[in-house]
Amino acid sequence: MPNLAASAPLFKQMAGEHAASLVQSGMVVGLGTGSTAIFATRKIASRLHEGDLYDIVAIATSRATDAAARALGIPMLTDDIPREIDLTIDGADEVDPAMELIKGGGGALLREKIVAEASRRVVIVADAGKLSPRLGTHWPLPVEVLEFGWRSQARFLKSLGAEVTLRPGEGGLFRTDQDNIILDCRFDPINNPSELAGKLEARAGLVGHGLFIGIASDLVVAGEDGIRHLERGPKATTR
Ligand code: A5P
Repeated sequence: MPNLAASAPLFKQMAGEHAASLVQSGMVVGLGTGSTAIFATRKIASRLHEGDLYDIVAIATSRATDAAARALGIPMLTDDIPREIDLTIDGADEVDPAMELIKGGGGALLREKIVAEASRRVVIVADAGKLSPRLGTHWPLPVEVLEFGWRSQARFLKSLGAEVTLRPGEGGLFRTDQDNIILDCRFDPINNPSELAGKLEARAGLVGHGLFIGIASDLVVAGEDGIRHLERGPKATTR
């Protein structure tokens, strides 16, 4: 049996670089966060430097990606996203057969969703190990909350059936780019992702969650069989 985990870095590179070939000159591009999306960012930069791509501008889904993209010489938009984004390339932690996602393993879920919702096309890049029959089978759902009242949020999430863990970080708690904290919620699996998303979005103090429902327009997945590119089609409008 192939060792998918050991091959994951190569598959991530294959998926990321394939997605970078979808970027065209003149585009506004969203740059994702994580160890798969960085391959797309690097490839976009090398295409720019080779003259294969010109007149693009990008927006990053995290401070870490912003710093990496600037270091690679990619021209960046201001943080207020003054223009609609043509194409965003981002990773995922879990992808179900309907192309719905869990994201936020790296903690960038809120900016990732803001950028995705401002994008006409969202291309998800993943190694085959991310595919899952049902969301929550392999990965807990990250929920970003204000520190104020976080224990109340933890009780609320438990009442929805989750086993809740406060995400640790360097020297204490993990801090998001917004200085919030993350509660990782294991549902094993999630029965109705849309219904759960609705409940989470109605809760004050809960500023983001990692369910990306109806957001991915494409999935580029790489594995032992090579690269597969599945399309759900462009979103009707940005939200
Ligand atoms: C970052 O917060 C996440 O949403 C990432 O997109 C996701 O964790 C995928 O990361 P890898 O590509 O590193 O597996």
